[in-house]
Amino acid sequence: MAFKQLRPSSPALRNMSIVPSSCSRVLPLTAQRRNYTPQGMPLDFNRLQKDVRPLSPLSRSASTVDVPLKAQQKSEKVFSFPSSTLFRAWSKDEGLAQVPLYRQSLYEHGVAKIQCEFGGDIEQKSALLLDIVNALGKADTHSATEGALWDIKNKPEGVISQGTGQKAIAISHTLDEFSWHIDGSFEEKPTRFFAFHIIHPDRQGGGVFRLLPVSDIVNSLPADVTEILATKDFNIKVPPEFFKGAHTLRKPLLERPPNGPALIRYRKGVCTADENDAEAQRAIRVLENLLQAEDAGFAVPAEHFREDTLLLLDNRRFLHSRTSIRDPNRWLRRVRFHADSAAA
Ligand SMILES: [Fe+2]
Repeated sequence: MAFKQLRPSSPALRNMSIVPSSCSRVLPLTAQRRNYTPQGMPLDFNRLQKDVRPLSPLSRSASTVDVPLKAQQKSEKVFSFPSSTLFRAWSKDEGLAQVPLYRQSLYEHGVAKIQCEFGGDIEQKSALLLDIVNALGKADTHSATEGALWDIKNKPEGVISQGTGQKAIAISHTLDEFSWHIDGSFEEKPTRFFAFHIIHPDRQGGGVFRLLPVSDIVNSLPADVTEILATKDFNIKVPPEFFKGAHTLRKPLLERPPNGPALIRYRKGVCTADENDAEAQRAIRVLENLLQAEDAGFAVPAEHFREDTLLLLDNRRFLHSRTSIRDPNRWLRRVRFHADSAAA
């Protein structure tokens, strides 16, 4: 059902307003809340839905349900999208008209999902994704050979490194599991957001995309460890396929903006502590032990990770991972992007 077909029909829905002309979603009037841009500036959201729930701590989430996964024979915590983060686009124009709502969704919850309900080929949906990204901020061309759109699919031939001129294979071009990380952890300024066009999900039960909120990590870490991760510099190694002139940089792994959510920079093997710094060694060990816990994070259910879906995510507010891929035709298209100055 299209959002524009919805009409208030219950007491809970009476106190609603229709957002401005370009947007067709129905939103409630709520008590004014304050939220923050990636730069820590306050944003007001007084028209957001009441039924949104906070992203939850690692093991006591109210927004998760246990779903048995036959393939793994274990209970899996599932990521629950707040209803205000779910959108449908019945045309490319409608997909673009809702950009202000995607922005609100990203800044409040760190996620927005748009289901493309219009016909057309793959390229038309990727084009909508790029248009949305360019309306939200600035796309990052993180590879000179691949441009803004990066295909995540089995690509054993690899890419040519911009820095070395040699062939290099990114993990995203293999069928391997990819453990908890942010995209571009090795960049001087990692992009705040990234987006997927899901072209062909894994239809054999592999390639499960998982999210771990940084707020859950911070809530689970001892305070002294958080302090070390946020104040000491760690070594960040640049993978060869993304080499742009520097092999390493030194940065803290956590940021704690005074008026915004905690942010992370991490990828296993890329981020390490100095060998002779026992405090930093201990802090990263505690962090990695936490990340290795079997129940860390939430699986994005297949119903939200399907063909013709555009998924926008805050790259610094979540770690993400994927299980190993079983369907060799799995194909995502990704674009990384920075926040725009209007929202900052
Ligand atoms: Fe990634």
